[in-house]
Amino acid sequence: MRVLVTGGAGYIGSHTLLELTAQGHEVCVLDNYSNATPEVLTRVRSLSNGIIHDFIGDVRDTAKLDEVMQDFVPEAVIHFAGLKAVGESTEKPLLYYDVNVSGTLTLLRAMERAGCNRIIFSSSATVYGEPVYLPYDEAHPTNPTSVYGRSKLMAEQILTDWAATSPERTAVLLRYFNPVGAHASAQIGEDPTGVPDNLMPFIAQVAVGKRDALQVFGNDYDTPDGTGRRDYIHVVDLARAHVAALNYAQGATGARPFNIGTGQSYSVREMVAAFERACGKPIATKQVGRRAGDIAAMQADSSRANAELDWVATHDLDAMTASTWAWQSKNPDGYKGS
Ligand SMILES: NC(=O)c1ccc[n+]([C@@H]2O[C@H](COP(=O)([O-])OP(=O)(O)OC[C@H]3O[C@@H](n4cnc5c(N)ncnc54)[C@H](O)[C@@H]3O)[C@@H](O)[C@H]2O)c1
Repeated sequence: MRVLVTGGAGYIGSHTLLELTAQGHEVCVLDNYSNATPEVLTRVRSLSNGIIHDFIGDVRDTAKLDEVMQDFVPEAVIHFAGLKAVGESTEKPLLYYDVNVSGTLTLLRAMERAGCNRIIFSSSATVYGEPVYLPYDEAHPTNPTSVYGRSKLMAEQILTDWAATSPERTAVLLRYFNPVGAHASAQIGEDPTGVPDNLMPFIAQVAVGKRDALQVFGNDYDTPDGTGRRDYIHVVDLARAHVAALNYAQGATGARPFNIGTGQSYSVREMVAAFERACGKPIATKQVGRRAGDIAAMQADSSRANAELDWVATHDLDAMTASTWAWQSKNPDGYKGS
């Protein structure tokens, strides 16, 4: 299939390009490089035999989108382009709504003009908010506690209303849990700008000597060791979920959300211990207070994705930590080192 991948130069997008091309899909990336570098596509191309077109542009730019649609004529779109820092979203709500909500609207309008009827959307487990029960299934109430989470839920609602207007239309809403890990080649991986927002890249930067110690936010949660528990999913498993979603979208109509996680959760302390096993050295930690907005624990019920997308996560915790360490130790400065 001809697949337009917005935000394809980002962390999850780059891994997905490899899985898509490995399955024979022809891809086209649209990215404004606000959180990526063109070096990513150089490396993806070196790892892939597939056809990878690319355009530099913003998903809010109508003229650019029309140009891409006319040039590439996609049969489906995978929409990764967006902003993802929960803390920053509170400080810059209008920017987050503009990119994540208006960006999705602008993209859908361009798809309508081009007659493209299938979209796979990067949503997030943050749409659920404080757990009413765990594991979260897709019927769990949605009550996001951040601007970021609300922007994802708004985009989901727009996509759902759009998909309902014609039986030809499909929107697959993938609610990711916590993506970690890197490609087996150690050539592509997560390369956050500034201080990492997420646990795994922070631990990796401590291990490689770029940061002194991991701050552990809170040790008084109602969990066995008092630290927060999350459902971590290997980025290659997540990338494969997009290929599965694309196959599903060919025979589906309307919008449908799917949790993409492993169903298992690990605490901050367990993640640190697993990373120490992978890198063979101790990770310094510093205990600090809870971070506003963090919840004690969460994990996914991904049985709908297992059954309907015919997808299942295959990478375990050791594969997640080992691949992160391989990427970080070979690329201590991320893509900037090349
Ligand atoms: N990584 C996570 O923890 C996580 C969890 C749940 C959902 N998501 C969602 O998945 C998607 C991809 O996440 P990621 O971790 O790969 O992030 P990322 O920042 O690495 O990738 C996003 C890509 O989109 C591009 N981009 C941003 N704004 C753009 C715009 N206006 N126009 C064109 N391109 C733009 C960036 O340059 C980057 O290459 C995002 O929508 C994110 O909200 C991520």
